[in-house]
Amino acid sequence: MPVLITYATSRGSTKEVADRIASRLHAVGFAVDCRPVDHVFSVENYSAVIIGSPIYHQKWLLDAQKFVDVEAVGLRMKPVWAFSLGMVGKPGWRRARAIKKETSRIEDVLIQKVPKVRDHRLFGGKDDGSSVSTPLRGLYRCLGGSFGDMRDWTAIDSWTSLIAKELHADGL
Ligand SMILES: Cc1cc2nc3c(=O)[nH]c(=O)nc-3n(C[C@H](O)[C@H](O)[C@H](O)COP(=O)(O)O)c2cc1C
Repeated sequence: MPVLITYATSRGSTKEVADRIASRLHAVGFAVDCRPVDHVFSVENYSAVIIGSPIYHQKWLLDAQKFVDVEAVGLRMKPVWAFSLGMVGKPGWRRARAIKKETSRIEDVLIQKVPKVRDHRLFGGKDDGSSVSTPLRGLYRCLGGSFGDMRDWTAIDSWTSLIAKELHADGL
């Protein structure tokens, strides 16, 4: 059975990360199916599931939250990994603190529904700041935030390799 890589996205950056994870897993021999959460009929016919969502206003997108709610029973029966995309600022102590806070906020909700999620990662996302007013953009920068494409493809690839190792170890 294929591995499902499923995602919610508003502006496309999470889809690109999901596509990357899918193509890396495919390259090392796994059958994969990569599709948006609202195009998944059921998780039943997949050997494992990787779910991704960007964070908007401190939460996963509604489609991703709904997917986890609706599929919770099925997800509890298979290996599940999750990732989030968010703008967590420039390297530094503020960033480490922001990542910790944002990560545990997402995990608290996720783990209630799927207690055995194998791992959840928060990766930097992509935001040009155009949806934010100039004063707010300035304030965000003063607080250590930054705009642009913050996706760390090396970190995403390493995480994918870890998942591949675990899937192999599970005999999948
Ligand atoms: C209106 C808005 C609100 C956002 N809220 C958050 C947030 O609360 N926490 C965070 O870490 N990132 C936040 N972000 C950054 C997004 O998570 C990031 O841009 C992500 O890559 C978007 O993913 P998408 O392109 O798949 O929609 C926000 C971005 C926008 C435009």
